[in-house]
Amino acid sequence: MKIISSIEELRDQLSGQLRTSFVPTMGNLHEGHLSLMRLARKHGDPVVASIFVNRLQFGPGEDFEKYPRTFQADVEKLEKEGVYVLFAPTEKDLYPEPQEFRIRPPEDLGNTLEGEFRPGFFTGVTTVVMKLFACVQPRVAVFGKKDYQQLMIIRNMSRQFALPTEIIAAETYRAEDGLALSSRNMYLSAPERAEAPALYRALNFVASEMRAGHLDIYQLEHQAMDELAKRGWNPDYISIRKRIDLQPPSAGDLAQGTPLVVLAAAKLGGTRLIDNLEI
Ligand code: PAJ
Repeated sequence: MKIISSIEELRDQLSGQLRTSFVPTMGNLHEGHLSLMRLARKHGDPVVASIFVNRLQFGPGEDFEKYPRTFQADVEKLEKEGVYVLFAPTEKDLYPEPQEFRIRPPEDLGNTLEGEFRPGFFTGVTTVVMKLFACVQPRVAVFGKKDYQQLMIIRNMSRQFALPTEIIAAETYRAEDGLALSSRNMYLSAPERAEAPALYRALNFVASEMRAGHLDIYQLEHQAMDELAKRGWNPDYISIRKRIDLQPPSAGDLAQGTPLVVLAAAKLGGTRLIDNLEI
């Protein structure tokens, strides 16, 4: 595996490649990330991964400084997956001058759910992803459904800008007890780690009630949040949305069986976890 930090060297290395399959990450790689590498390999060759902790997508009180950085271990994992190039730019490489041009997602999609609780987050994500795409020029790029809203926003961005990059969705990779793998899980204490699968259980409760014909979504969302709060969580939202645009479903949508997804974010101690489930 070639480890490359400069954009120019990356371009040289990948010149003439027409089927590049790309997986952007912020490192601290776990099995969820590695499942994306495997999916990427099915959709193209060579597979290029990136590791870059993107300052632009962290808010003032967030964990940019303490975000786990485990570069050597990450490199070993990617070697085993047969990744051809790891693009690991420094901040100077990727942002040699202040990144004043930004990609701003549409309000409806960018300012709801995660966007409401993390102002500017998606602008930081789309800006870096656009820049990484410009560096790697991939034919396909793989994103996880774990970050459902991020996936939707990037998919829409790619379509609306007519980028030559097809966006592929990877299923959420979970621990045996249902907890979605996440770099942030390592902030959990042992008792918090034991409690953490309650978030996925709350999503399953909502999904199974909906499937059984319980369509009072406001009541369901609140029941699920109250249950988490009783268990000591601090929920930001549990929200049933249309898969197509992540907007709340109308009564007509519910009657017609429009495809839905339930999304959640909640703090357990100092750790904020997100998850979602298609209904
Ligand atoms: P990061 O959190 O490192 O995630 C990188 C990719 O791995 C994302 O597409 C994410 O959805 C996916 N992923 C994380 N955990 C997963 C799991 N348990 N199952 C399946 N996929 C999972 O998301 C980012 O980095 C950044 O915002 C980035 C897109 C790299 C831009 O900076």
